[in-house]
Amino acid sequence: MLRKIKDGILAVPWIYDRVRPLAAGGIDFEALASFCATTPEDRVFDLGCGTGQLLPYLRFHSYLGADLDPQALRRASRLASASVSFVAGDDWDRQYFELEPTVVLMIGVVHHLSDAAFRRIVERLSPPQSLRRIVTIDVTYLPDQWLNNLLSRMDRGRHVRTPQAYEKLFEFSGLKVTRGSVLPTRLRYVRYVGYHLTPERVPR
Ligand SMILES: C[S@@+](CC[C@H](N)C(=O)[O-])C[C@H]1O[C@@H](n2cnc3c(N)ncnc32)[C@H](O)[C@@H]1O
Repeated sequence: MLRKIKDGILAVPWIYDRVRPLAAGGIDFEALASFCATTPEDRVFDLGCGTGQLLPYLRFHSYLGADLDPQALRRASRLASASVSFVAGDDWDRQYFELEPTVVLMIGVVHHLSDAAFRRIVERLSPPQSLRRIVTIDVTYLPDQWLNNLLSRMDRGRHVRTPQAYEKLFEFSGLKVTRGSVLPTRLRYVRYVGYHLTPERVPR
């Protein structure tokens, strides 16, 4: 009950955008975008784009954001332009393949997904030839990081994992980890874990 109320409050887009970064000790969006390493040539599919907070920091040729949460997407939509579009809900497959994405972002999303749900999404992404990598960034549990671990436990996502568990999930989903990094917030008491993943079956 209390968790439901807390999750409802955290889901309010304004609170998500303003309060969450402070509570986490200052999210360094430039550092997160830098980890994503998109270029001005990239066609980016941002699955679980939320309110679009990372979008101003990303470089791309074209961008398609998708999210299940209509409130968050309404806020993200203020950033729509000729090269930026959004799709609400789970019905993104057609626009995804039309985009011919070079990079898929799942930022703050995998810890919301069960292993089975993540694998179903990877199957739906069924990598087109254009796709070079999938980038994930998530909250995690780390040894001796009690404050990080407490806040991770309080997260809205029900599937926060250790780095080892994320890596095992990626491997079982046919994704090869080509880069992994711990990404601290500015005050460093929260640490995200980020990965670059390459679909094993796409010839490089
Ligand atoms: C922690 S938020 C991250 C939002 C954004 N990527 C960011 O970094 O600010 C997670 C988002 O993933 C969305 N989400 C969770 N599961 C999803 C799914 N299966 N498909 C699309 N969006 C999903 C949620 O609605 C939520 O907006």
